[in-house]
Amino acid sequence: MQPIEWDEDKYSVGNQIIDNQHHQIIISINRLIAQYNKGLKEDIVKDINQTGYQFESHFIVEEMLLEGVGSPHTKDERDAHEKYHINLMEILIEHPVDDVLIYLITWWTEHILVDNMKFKGEL
Ligand SMILES: [Fe+2]
Ligand SMILES: [Fe+2]
Repeated sequence: MQPIEWDEDKYSVGNQIIDNQHHQIIISINRLIAQYNKGLKEDIVKDINQTGYQFESHFIVEEMLLEGVGSPHTKDERDAHEKYHINLMEILIEHPVDDVLIYLITWWTEHILVDNMKFKGEL
């Protein structure tokens, strides 16, 4: 499985806190991909639970910053975060680890490059 290639210009949404968190999250996902490529599937499930805290704190910060500037994207982001949790839990319980990683890669790249780009310049 291919890791996500971080590109500051491509991924920056114009806020240093958010950009740093996104970068750290991508590093964590890439670490899971590296484990997967080494065949350490059981470790991935354990580590996803640990990185869950990092993902969660990003959502809290993002929602707080958006709310602070009265962004019209606040509600959409909050809804998207909630949906993410539900979907991830479902996939973790019912699907093989391959699907979990594919979901993380797809969701997070879309989260940054599509959803968060909508508020670029607001924060
Ligand atoms: Fe978000
Ligand atoms: Fe984000």
